[in-house]
Amino acid sequence: QSSTEIDISAIQPGQAIKAVFRKQPVFIRNLTPEEVSAADKVDASSLRDPQTLEERTKEGKTNWLITMGVCTHLGCVPLGAGEGEVKGEFGGYFCPCHGSHYDTAARIRKGPAPKNLEVPEYAFISDTVVKIG
Ligand code: FES
Repeated sequence: QSSTEIDISAIQPGQAIKAVFRKQPVFIRNLTPEEVSAADKVDASSLRDPQTLEERTKEGKTNWLITMGVCTHLGCVPLGAGEGEVKGEFGGYFCPCHGSHYDTAARIRKGPAPKNLEVPEYAFISDTVVKIG
């Protein structure tokens, strides 16, 4: 199966879920307005992997952060999607394997990972369903 459809209607602001896409974890996160503005406040050009939240989300839906749940260092699954408050120092995700911290746009901010969490191909097929792949 090459794509997967996910109902996002139950994901409240501040919550993230883990789904599976091509046998790998994918994180779907409904950012709070505070998390969106925390991401927007950062000067993207200063980052290791320079990208804005807008470049990593769909227009008009910057609160929906959809990324692979695969650390870009050596492929562990970061924490922060469904592990309560385990989000690392930058409020996004934390990879416990070697200590990579990702921000609220899932951009690498500290630790050994070279790249931001990958954004897969996806599309909103309605306000409540996302098709990944
Ligand atoms: Fe995530 Fe090494 S695999 S920090």
